[in-house]
Amino acid sequence: MDTTGPIGSQPGERASSCPQEGMPRPSDSSDLVQECLQQFKVTTTQLRQIQATLLCSMEQALKGHDSPAPSVRMLPTYVGSTPHGTEQGDFLVLELGATGASLRVLWVTLTGTKECSVEPKSQEFAIPREVMLGAGRQLFDFAARCLSEFLDAHPTENQDLKLGFNFSFPCHQTGLDRSTLISWTKGFRCSGVEGQDVVQLLREAIQRQGTYSIDVVAMVNDTVGTMMGCELGTRPCEVGLIADTGTNACYMEEARHVRALDEDRGRTCVSIEWGSFYDAEALGPVLSTFDHALDHDSLTPGAQRFEKMIGGLYLGELVRLVLVHLAQHGVLFGGCTSPALLSQGSILLEHVAEIEDPTTGTAHAHAILQDLGLSPQASDAELVKHVCAAVCTRAAQLCAAALAAVLSRLQHSREQQTLQVAVATGGRVFERHPRFRHTLKEMVMLLVPECDVSFIPSVDGGGRGVAMVTAVAARLAAHKHILEETLAPFQLDFEQLTVVQAQMREAMVRGLRGEASSLRMLPTYVRATPDGSERGDFLALDLGGTNFRVLLVRVAEGSVQITNQVYSIPESVTQGSGQQLFDHIVDCIVDFQQRHGLSGQSLPLGFTFSFPCKQLGLDQGILLNWTKGFNASDCEGQDVVYLLREAIRRKQAVELNVVAIVNDTVGTMMSCGYDDPRCEMGLIVGTGTNACYMEELRNVAGVAGDSGRMCINMEWGAFGDDGSLGLLSTCFDASVDQASINPGKQRFEKMISGMYLGEIVRHILLHLTSLGVLFRGQKTQCLQTRDIFKTKFLSVIESDSLALRQVRAILEDLGLTLTSDDALMVLEVCQAVSRRAAQLCGAGVAAVVEKIRENRGLQELSVSVGVDGTLYKLHPHFSRLVSATVRKLAPHCTVTFLQSEDGSGKGAALVTAVACRLVQRARD
Ligand code: G6P
Ligand code: BGC
Ligand code: BGC
Repeated sequence: MDTTGPIGSQPGERASSCPQEGMPRPSDSSDLVQECLQQFKVTTTQLRQIQATLLCSMEQALKGHDSPAPSVRMLPTYVGSTPHGTEQGDFLVLELGATGASLRVLWVTLTGTKECSVEPKSQEFAIPREVMLGAGRQLFDFAARCLSEFLDAHPTENQDLKLGFNFSFPCHQTGLDRSTLISWTKGFRCSGVEGQDVVQLLREAIQRQGTYSIDVVAMVNDTVGTMMGCELGTRPCEVGLIADTGTNACYMEEARHVRALDEDRGRTCVSIEWGSFYDAEALGPVLSTFDHALDHDSLTPGAQRFEKMIGGLYLGELVRLVLVHLAQHGVLFGGCTSPALLSQGSILLEHVAEIEDPTTGTAHAHAILQDLGLSPQASDAELVKHVCAAVCTRAAQLCAAALAAVLSRLQHSREQQTLQVAVATGGRVFERHPRFRHTLKEMVMLLVPECDVSFIPSVDGGGRGVAMVTAVAARLAAHKHILEETLAPFQLDFEQLTVVQAQMREAMVRGLRGEASSLRMLPTYVRATPDGSERGDFLALDLGGTNFRVLLVRVAEGSVQITNQVYSIPESVTQGSGQQLFDHIVDCIVDFQQRHGLSGQSLPLGFTFSFPCKQLGLDQGILLNWTKGFNASDCEGQDVVYLLREAIRRKQAVELNVVAIVNDTVGTMMSCGYDDPRCEMGLIVGTGTNACYMEELRNVAGVAGDSGRMCINMEWGAFGDDGSLGLLSTCFDASVDQASINPGKQRFEKMISGMYLGEIVRHILLHLTSLGVLFRGQKTQCLQTRDIFKTKFLSVIESDSLALRQVRAILEDLGLTLTSDDALMVLEVCQAVSRRAAQLCGAGVAAVVEKIRENRGLQELSVSVGVDGTLYKLHPHFSRLVSATVRKLAPHCTVTFLQSEDGSGKGAALVTAVACRLVQRARD
């Protein structure tokens, strides 16, 4: 309140002013008194209207309506549940703004049980007026100094000081420890704080102070502290009501009704900020001339109109304005005023409360008025008591109307006809004022008779509640720290990626030379990309990705037409005998031929076989080892084309001309190369991962000839199988590897590809659960089920368009029960795992394109990469991260990524077509 000039004082006024001519005669005076007191009367109808209008305003604010702007804010507080009572630990609480011009520091010990409670220690500090109205920095420095003084006076062994900041002003919270002041209320007006994060400002001040290291973990409004600190009774305490210097309430709302939150389950505490309520129709008729005068001369004219009729900062002032009016009209004090009476803020809430005391009120009234420099008569004291009663009764009634609105809202959102609820109350108006609570209760019963409300006074001004919220926040912060630590090894920096690139490059060279290397660098006998002159109908098989496909590919001038059919291969077959597997493949081909009228034709066939094969020619490939969950017996070490031909022979039903066996990377490169001749690399990031590229023949040991190029299947999934990725591999990678059917093999693939990312995530989730950080420490059956967490979930969960609630729904479908904090953590885990995968993949691509550039002695290389695979195509960020990494690691290469649209079957057909063309040409 601005006290720079007393209200109503005139320039040149004498020390005490007494009756002048024109004063009302005694007969008029009772009319005047009546008229004054009448202004503070509110009818039940008016109260009902206020209740209804406030409710409407609350509902609009919940829905996020901003035009017209609702007059209450309905601010989410990030407090999601009422206390369990199990919270434990020592906490510092700093209270600012609840009780006028003082600041309180408390030391609260939570024991985790109701039975043995420990009295908090506390100390109050008066905030100098110039600090309340000065620079924000000064205020926060003052607060930090008070904290230090308190800790000096109450030494503690505890090095790990956690603080809850009870800051009682309207704030936009975006987390328990992120809170922006919207506007000052009550007597505060410090510059440079509105629009700033007050938690941060306090942290900075504590750091400037430098004496203690204190962690500010939560910011809590006083209403929330009061609700949370409420003694656990038989019914839940779901409303916190404050009538102190200012007034406000909070309550537990269904989260799905709060538009500002992305949450559809559970409840959340909303601070109504009803002090700002105003409605011309509902509140206008209730406002007295004194309310207008008070507002006009306040620090915040036009704002907090409702609060200015209820808050303790204003009740004394309203009384004073009425007394001045009556004195100046000769009705009180023989028409005399005094400078003190004319000074703004000279009558305080305490005075009003004392005057209203039923037994000692009259004596108090005399003493207080005398202290103000007045000479009251007995009748003056009585009248002053009436004025106080009128002002305070109205305050209690208005407060009741507002609480009635909250209770109606609760009833409505719970869809309950009758409501049993406990309301925690706090603040000096409640504590000091003899009749406030009683009047409020009576009026609430009248306005919402269907609600059974019990009022529970706060014991320690909400300090315990703030400590409880702080305990929860501290637990969340500790969890966050564990999460960060767990995910740190997945965050690869530029140096680490450069090392991967260099190691890959070295392994490529050794592999090409035929020296020991984890990269096999297999020649594919594909020497040229298509030139467009290929023609004819071809069959293709595509085995080794998510789907097994049979295709008919018609290559005509300028167009390639594809007909394909997906067949499933049961796990009993992929992991059964080789004979079973190849018989199954031939059955599918027969079926395909019958369906498409191809029976009896012996079309040239290209076989995309996406496993490591040592090729001895285009139509001969020895399977080196199975990968990606395939494990059919008696195949490794065999020529796959031979195995297929044998199966054809066994069936005797078909004639097939197997011309080429092609890895999926090669098929993809060829398929994209048909449209873009610069496509000289193929990349797969799907179930497995691998790459191929065009290498200079002179660099390839073991293949005759020195000129020209040949496509090399790198089999980069096996990169690191010699232990070279050891430093990057985490314990989660090790677990996934150990549980796989090929431990120690395909280590690079197991950090990148779709078959494994979900498993890595699952292992991390298991770890976090065992530390109690996730899923309340419950390791459910579901979480322990191998492969339950599919990589496609990563793609869905990480999609930007997905709200957190949808993430939760997906995980719940898997049988996990989780909070939104859990959902957020799962999202972070997914992001870390897929980001590392994309970066490792990018480091690999960078090594390859740099090698191509150097092979050709070019300053700059422009090259295209044909890409396929479900992870690359479906994940929302993977492709972007791969190319960003390549740009950083291979700055002299311009790399264009082309997504293959038709799978590598088309490429296999093209390889076959090229081979047929060459054979044809040789014959001609
Ligand atoms: C290509 C091929 C598949 C290949 C796959 C990789 O399109 O046609 O045979 O293995 O992509 O993707 P996936 O995610 O299915 O493993
Ligand atoms: C503030 C609220 C606070 C209330 C009671 C109002 O002025 O805006 O945040 O809860 O006072 O202290
Ligand atoms: C295989 C490669 C294949 C890759 C992508 C790996 O497991 O070894 O041959 O290209 O998966 O499908």
